[in-house]
Amino acid sequence: MPYTPATTPEAARRVACTGAGVIGGGWVAHFLARGYDVTAWDPAGDAEEKLRRLVAAAWPVLEQLGLADGASPDRLTVAPTLAEAVADADFVQESAPEKLELKRSLLAELDAATPPGVVIASSTSGYPMTEMQTAAADPSRLVVGHPFNPPYLIPLVEVVGGTRTDPAAVAWASRFYGLAGKSVITMDRELPGFIANRLQEALWREALHMVANGEATVADIDASITEGPGLRWAFMGPCLTFALAGGEGGMAHMLDHFGPSLKSPWTRLEAPELDRALRDAMVNGCATAAGNRTYTDLVTERDQGIINILRATNRLPQSAPRQP
Ligand SMILES: NC(=O)c1ccc[n+]([C@@H]2O[C@H](COP(=O)([O-])OP(=O)(O)OC[C@H]3O[C@@H](n4cnc5c(N)ncnc54)[C@H](O)[C@@H]3O)[C@@H](O)[C@H]2O)c1
Repeated sequence: MPYTPATTPEAARRVACTGAGVIGGGWVAHFLARGYDVTAWDPAGDAEEKLRRLVAAAWPVLEQLGLADGASPDRLTVAPTLAEAVADADFVQESAPEKLELKRSLLAELDAATPPGVVIASSTSGYPMTEMQTAAADPSRLVVGHPFNPPYLIPLVEVVGGTRTDPAAVAWASRFYGLAGKSVITMDRELPGFIANRLQEALWREALHMVANGEATVADIDASITEGPGLRWAFMGPCLTFALAGGEGGMAHMLDHFGPSLKSPWTRLEAPELDRALRDAMVNGCATAAGNRTYTDLVTERDQGIINILRATNRLPQSAPRQP
């Protein structure tokens, strides 16, 4: 079934966010800050209270970033049912738990309840849309829109469709996210973990191996990134920074010089056994690294750190992008 848009990305005004936990709540805060009307739905009994707390905590940093004209937390409605949440939506962002069967049936339910021609995006961290869209009557409008935590501060969203998604729906979503202030990477094929999670997972597996073998503490691993390569990665990716490691000879010299060591057994890319001992070592190591900082302290520290980096690298939104 070909995708026929209900409206243009420019005219979209109301976003429905289904699932309002860490990521769904972060999306709600983002869309509110960009001036959209947002309707949220989440089946948990305490979801509304948690969501409003998340938005209130995020709002001061969003004000620092610069709000779109007319943006207000008052433009958030929490709907009592999924059907009411999506009834007037121009775009739907699904952020329910990462379970394939749940995503399959929820996307089918969302597809049945959402007006025709409205794109429905899933925040999944790694399921291919091809596997999630199997139960939907109209899979042509189902896309992945993979964000990073917190979605209201990290610009990137990776957009990709499944085999039964119409490329026009992928293009609609990419354009919409761009207008909503995101940095968009549109992928023309599905990769497990997309691009960024595939890269993050490689690093994460190595970190777990080092903790499992007692080779480094959680605090050392975190410092090795924040005091080292992480400073470069905030503005220049791993490929260009390695090209500079080759001096004036660039990537050619870098590969000719260090290429043979790529085969040396530094990495252990098979995942380690996540047994109780490793789990506890990671949990205890994180508690030690956090010291007396609470979850709220760490969120505030992280959010302020991201804003400082965006500001220092001249990447704060230049102006309010839209007025609804
Ligand atoms: N946490 C991250 O860093 C991160 C980053 C990128 C993408 N994601 C993806 O975002 C999605 C949500 O993850 P999260 O970390 O926000 O999880 P979470 O546990 O914080 O939130 C999930 C929310 O979904 C609700 N929920 C449960 N059943 C539901 C249903 N049937 N329909 C709608 N909502 C339902 C829960 O009540 C909860 O509020 C997952 O697909 C995850 O892979 C997470």
